[in-house]
Amino acid sequence: MTHVEPAEHDLPTVEGNAGLAPRGERPWWRDAVVYQVYPRSFSDSDGDGLGDIRGIRDRLAHLVDLGVDAVWLSPFYPSPLLDGGYDVADPRDVDPRLGTVDELRGLTEDCHRLGLKIFVDIVPNHFSWDHEWFQAAKATAPGSPEWSRFHAVRGKGADGTEPPNDWQSAFGGPAWSPIEGHPGWWYLHIFDASQPDVNWDNPEIHADYEKTLRFWFDMGVDGFRIDVAHGLVKEPGYPDAGTAPGFDEVLAGAPQEYSPMWDQPGVHDIWREWRRVADGYSPDRAYVGEAWVSTPERQADYTRPDELHTTFNFHFLKTWWAAERIREVVGLSLLASAAVGAPCTWVLSNHDVWRPVTRFAPHLRDGTLDLAEGRRRALALSLVSLGLPGSAYLYQGEELGLPEVLDIADGDRQDPTFFRTQGENKGRDGCRIPIPWSGSSAPYGFTTGTPHLPMPEGWEPLTVEAQKADPASTFHVYKRALAVRRAREAMGDGLMRWLDLGDDDVVAFERPGDEPVTVVLNVADADRIVAVDGEILVECGGVARQADGVLVLPPSSAAWIG
Ligand code: NOJ
Ligand code: MG
Repeated sequence: MTHVEPAEHDLPTVEGNAGLAPRGERPWWRDAVVYQVYPRSFSDSDGDGLGDIRGIRDRLAHLVDLGVDAVWLSPFYPSPLLDGGYDVADPRDVDPRLGTVDELRGLTEDCHRLGLKIFVDIVPNHFSWDHEWFQAAKATAPGSPEWSRFHAVRGKGADGTEPPNDWQSAFGGPAWSPIEGHPGWWYLHIFDASQPDVNWDNPEIHADYEKTLRFWFDMGVDGFRIDVAHGLVKEPGYPDAGTAPGFDEVLAGAPQEYSPMWDQPGVHDIWREWRRVADGYSPDRAYVGEAWVSTPERQADYTRPDELHTTFNFHFLKTWWAAERIREVVGLSLLASAAVGAPCTWVLSNHDVWRPVTRFAPHLRDGTLDLAEGRRRALALSLVSLGLPGSAYLYQGEELGLPEVLDIADGDRQDPTFFRTQGENKGRDGCRIPIPWSGSSAPYGFTTGTPHLPMPEGWEPLTVEAQKADPASTFHVYKRALAVRRAREAMGDGLMRWLDLGDDDVVAFERPGDEPVTVVLNVADADRIVAVDGEILVECGGVARQADGVLVLPPSSAAWIG
C-alpha cells in the first residue's frame, strides 16, 4: 500500500476518465500499449535489405516478451516508395517485396494467437501517382470524371501558368504540380508531388475507402491508424492560405488559426461515416487518428463519441524537459479528452520525428549532444507516459533507447523532405534506420543483405540480444513497466491525482485504486528526496530507498511506487 502525504497548501486535483468498467470489461483500445512497426526497417527475412512481413512474423516473440498489447504496421502496400510507403499505389494489396495478402492474414492470425491486436495504416488524403485512378486521370483531360477524383484546378493568370493559389506542400515547395500535356492545369498534393490528394467531394472516394476499410476489417485487423486525419477536406474555391500556419508551423507549435488546407470542419463528417463502419464489427474495432492540430481541444474534437476512438497526443510528444510544461500538457490533454469521454494517448516517438534520446539530449560545452543524458531523460519520460491514464504508443527501437542517426550521406537519404527543400531539411530517415537485433557490427541481424538505409557502427550494446542479456538495460525497464501496468488495475485508462511532494522539479501523481501506484519523475540536475512509501515497482536512473526510509531520486530519474 502506498501512503502519500501531499503538501497541505496544494489540494490535489483529479483528472482523467471516471466511472469506467474494470479493465478487461471495457474496450481494449482504452488501455492498449501499441507498438509501431515500420515494416521496411523492422526485420528482413529474405536478404533484400527491406524488412518484410515474414520478418515481422519471425520477430513477434520480441513484442510478446516486451509485453505490449497491440501492433501498428506503417504502410506495407505496393508503392514506388517516394514517401516511405505513404505513397500507396494499391491500398488493398501488399507490396510484393514485403509479402502477400495471405502472409498479412497469417501475421494477423499470429498476432491474435499471441494475444496481440493489430492496427494497419490507411492513407485517405492521397494516393500514389502510380495508383490506377491517377494513371487513368492522366490519360484524360481535366474536367473528366477520372480527374474529378483528384483536385485538378486551372492556374492563375490568363494562361494559367501560375499555381492556383499560394498553398505550400508539407514537405516544402508549392502544393501544386502542372498536369502534363494540359498547360494551365494543376493538381494538388499537400505532400510530395507523387502523392496527389484525392477529392472527398466525390462519392467514389467515399465508397473506395469504405471498401478498403472492410477489406482489412474482414481479414481480421483490429483497427486503423489514419494518416493526416486533419487534412482530407479543403476549403471550397481554394482560397489563398495567406498567413495561416503551415503543417510544419503547427508542428512547431503555432497557435490555431483558420487554414483552408488543414483541420477543416468537413473532415468530421468523414470520421462519423467511418465510425459507423467500425461499429458494425465485433469484436471491437478501433481507429487512431493522426491529426497535427494546434490545441488539445481541437484534437479532442476528433474523438467525440461518434468519431474516431483515439488520436495521437502530439502535444505530449512536443513537450520539453521542464516539470511545469510536463504538468501543463498532461493536464490539458486529460481535461480535453475526458470532456469527450475518450481515452488520452501518450506518444513520445514515431517515424516522423527525431528519436527522443536525441531530442532530449542537452548540448555539451563543445557543442556535441550528451546522448547518455538524453537517454536517461527519454526513459524517465516513458515511465511517466506509461503511467498516465489511457493508451500509449511505442515506436520500434524506443524500447532499445536508439538515438537519431544524424550522419547519413546525402546520397543515402530517401525522405522527400530532403529533396523538396534542396537538402536544407535533412528529413526523417534518421529515425527509420533498421532495428539492430544481434551481433557486433552492421547490419546487426536485421538482414543478410545490405540494409535499405545504412546502419551505424557502435550499436552493439543497443541490440535486442545485448539488452535482453542485461537486466539493467533500457529494454528491461520497459519490460518491467509493461508487466506492472498489466498486473495493476490502477494503470491504463481511468483517473490520476496530482501530488505535490514539495518540490517543483518533481512531477508526481497517483493512480488511485485498491492497489494504487505513484509515479514520480525528477527533472532537476541534482538529487531530490521525497516521502513516498511503498515498494519500488520499476525505476530508471537509480531511484533507491535510503536506510532511513526516504526515497532518493537522482537527476533525470523516475519510478513507480506501490
Ligand atoms: C504522415 C505520415 O506519418 C508521414 O510519414 C507521411 O509522410 C505523411 N503523413 C504523408 O502521408
Ligand atoms: Mg525483405
